[in-house]
Amino acid sequence: MPEQLPGRWPKNPLIYELYPRSFQDSDGDGIGDLPGIARRLDHLEALAVDAVWICPINASPWVDGGYDPSSYTDIHPKMGTEDDFAALVDGLHGRGIRVMVDLVLNHTSEKHPWFVKSVAREDPYTDYYVWHDAKPDGSAPNNWITRFGRPAWSWNHKREQYYLHNYMAEQPALDLRCDCTDDEMANVISTWLDRGVDGFRFDAVTTYLYDPQFRDNPPATPEERAKMDGEPFLPYVRQNHLHDFLPGDGAAYTENLRKWCGEGIFMLGEIGTGNQSIEVTNSITKPGRLDTGYTVDIPQYGLEAATVADMLERSDNVPGLGWWIESHDRARQVEGPDDPMVRFHLFFLAMMPGTALVYQGQELGLPQPHLEEEEVTDPYDRAFWPDGPGRENARVPMPWEAGDGGGFTTGTPWLPMRWPEGASAAEQGGEGTPLAFARAVFAARRDLGIGEAALDGWTREGDVLTLDLSAGVRVVLNFGEDAAEAGTDDAPAFHSAAGEWSGALAPKSGAVWRV
Ligand code: GLC
Repeated sequence: MPEQLPGRWPKNPLIYELYPRSFQDSDGDGIGDLPGIARRLDHLEALAVDAVWICPINASPWVDGGYDPSSYTDIHPKMGTEDDFAALVDGLHGRGIRVMVDLVLNHTSEKHPWFVKSVAREDPYTDYYVWHDAKPDGSAPNNWITRFGRPAWSWNHKREQYYLHNYMAEQPALDLRCDCTDDEMANVISTWLDRGVDGFRFDAVTTYLYDPQFRDNPPATPEERAKMDGEPFLPYVRQNHLHDFLPGDGAAYTENLRKWCGEGIFMLGEIGTGNQSIEVTNSITKPGRLDTGYTVDIPQYGLEAATVADMLERSDNVPGLGWWIESHDRARQVEGPDDPMVRFHLFFLAMMPGTALVYQGQELGLPQPHLEEEEVTDPYDRAFWPDGPGRENARVPMPWEAGDGGGFTTGTPWLPMRWPEGASAAEQGGEGTPLAFARAVFAARRDLGIGEAALDGWTREGDVLTLDLSAGVRVVLNFGEDAAEAGTDDAPAFHSAAGEWSGALAPKSGAVWRV
């Protein structure tokens, strides 16, 4: 069995988020798989990423694409076998790339044997999930609402009790307050460590625990509502999520995770916390907890100087911040490979101190595809189509080549691929393409030592943010629509705008100097 890659993780790793269903198919069934990923190691190595985070590969009915595990340790048959996983880990390690897998510990699928046995009150599973009696009038225990817009409680007629779910009813929440689940979770983690993984992305950590008194959430004030993550048209944003997110000792649960993982294993958490994203990240990344939390601030409020400055101001642990713009949960943010924003986004991710999360396809400048309603399978998108988050559009498979199947599959891709000309990897790599820029800017990140840099100081003037990093590096980011002064006559070590350095910062561009 493979072992962890020797040596330590960079302080600020550059992590490539890989959505395996849509990365590379190897057997013509139209769905990406582990042997497929193993075919694309050259692509990953040429990007010089420190690690890949592989979205769920566990067995699952795929109601939520694997974020509904029916096993934490069995690999989904469509993804491949344990041997395929071992070969992939070896292959990635051979290229110096660390491996992270996604662990969805907050909930399982309703098809997970634990839930089936819990419904039947079969010990020791009886209390594995958050069960609660109805109120005397039969209604749900409290007013909690899911991020997906429905009440957070569903009735189980066999137990004649409600169960909690923070997402869909098919995703019952585990009771992580119950000691009974501790050994299970420790085992899940050690199984993956034995398979050689170097880190984990922990899904939905901010829904792990909940108020043991099950109090109602109060209404959100207009200010809280304005800062709330989530679709603005859902009732979810009308509550202040005091009691369903990490009350008091919640972040401390991550100390268990650290204990089970041990030091040296990189732990990244997804932070979705109503209106307190950075405050919760501060708490969840304290020593002995997670390394990094990533919040929805940028996708929610836009890549603006004000958003980033607000995050930096509220953070007491900048290396614990994960910087990201796109993911498998959010619409893609650029118009296509020719959009100058592609370069600004990649530069921003490469040069910020902290963990950088690059979603597959950002290096190609992929635009958000337009799926027809009948093509969409994601229940979250379907429930509100066309107003939903557009998660599934962002999961349309990677174009490796032009033409049918795009080099992704020899069969019919599980989502239609209608990428614009010039979007595929094979058409890119030449000067001026996003792929060439991605390789160059990530190499510059390494050369400049951003992976080990701390933030010494920063200032904001209007749309311009200046960051001084401990590596003797100054990063200047112009988020505005107008050109901005660089503050020096020296040419930068690297800049994001196309063409030669003009002496000033082009609109929506960045530059970096050794100082
Ligand atoms: C996280 C995942 C998302 C999933 C949800 C429920 O937000 O990123 O894809 O639907 O958790 O597990």
